[in-house]
Amino acid sequence: MPAKIIDGTAIARKIRENIKKKVRELSFTPGIAFVLVGNNPASQIYVEHKQRACREVGFFSKNIRLEGNIDELELLRVVDELNQENKIQGIIVQLPLPSHINSQLIIDSILPHKDADGINPINIGNMVVGNNLITPATPKGVIKLIESTGITIDGKHAVVLGRSNIVGKPLSMLLLQKNATVSICHSHTKNIEELTKSADILVSAIGKPKFVTADMVKSGAVVIDVGTTREGSKLIGDVDFEEVRKVAGYMTPVPGGVGPMTIAMLLENTLECIGLKR
Ligand code: GUN
Repeated sequence: MPAKIIDGTAIARKIRENIKKKVRELSFTPGIAFVLVGNNPASQIYVEHKQRACREVGFFSKNIRLEGNIDELELLRVVDELNQENKIQGIIVQLPLPSHINSQLIIDSILPHKDADGINPINIGNMVVGNNLITPATPKGVIKLIESTGITIDGKHAVVLGRSNIVGKPLSMLLLQKNATVSICHSHTKNIEELTKSADILVSAIGKPKFVTADMVKSGAVVIDVGTTREGSKLIGDVDFEEVRKVAGYMTPVPGGVGPMTIAMLLENTLECIGLKR
């Protein structure tokens, strides 16, 4: 039997509907600021999708577009103004930033209680010690997608491909919190297939189109594809969808899997930001 498809679009839509209801009960309109530096076409599309979701749930969004050659100090100043702006509850600086800017410095400068992405080291660090405040958006969405299958994470072998600060590392910690046994694989890992083949839950976040092939996947596994590589107008995942589908138990498509969930989690995180003490 081919794998069941985890419909991220439908799950995210339900979450947005819930958020919309919560927003109606508020006495004010929550605001997210999007900071987009330069003209990376993929980033422009992602920000447009996020803004559309904001409108749908009743948030207002502030759109800040900056020249690709902006200097670091100027960008820090922009973030600082947003940190102080009362109408803004969430700040999202779209990554990647141009190479002359120290991205970590910019992420560090977003106030933790306005960090809708959940990637400031204060939020990541709190999560590592089990005191989740704002949870990193993509990893949080991945956990919800896995849980939507009804399969429990507790005691399972989860293999994460990729060790980025915004997906691989925080996702591994969240899986550990849920009592999975976690293996993190990366470009220096030997015999990756041996590890992936023993994974009950396999998450790929490396950005290499069709890297995960059927012979790397355990029969019945839950396979979550975080990878998105743009080829022309098409988005290609890390997983060879058609082949892996013959082996896996559940899997996410690209597009329509993790992407819409990340956006829903950004909105959810922004609502959570409102409740945090300043
Ligand atoms: N670029 C790719 N994914 C993300 C994300 O989740 N947040 C931000 N800010 N930039 C990204």
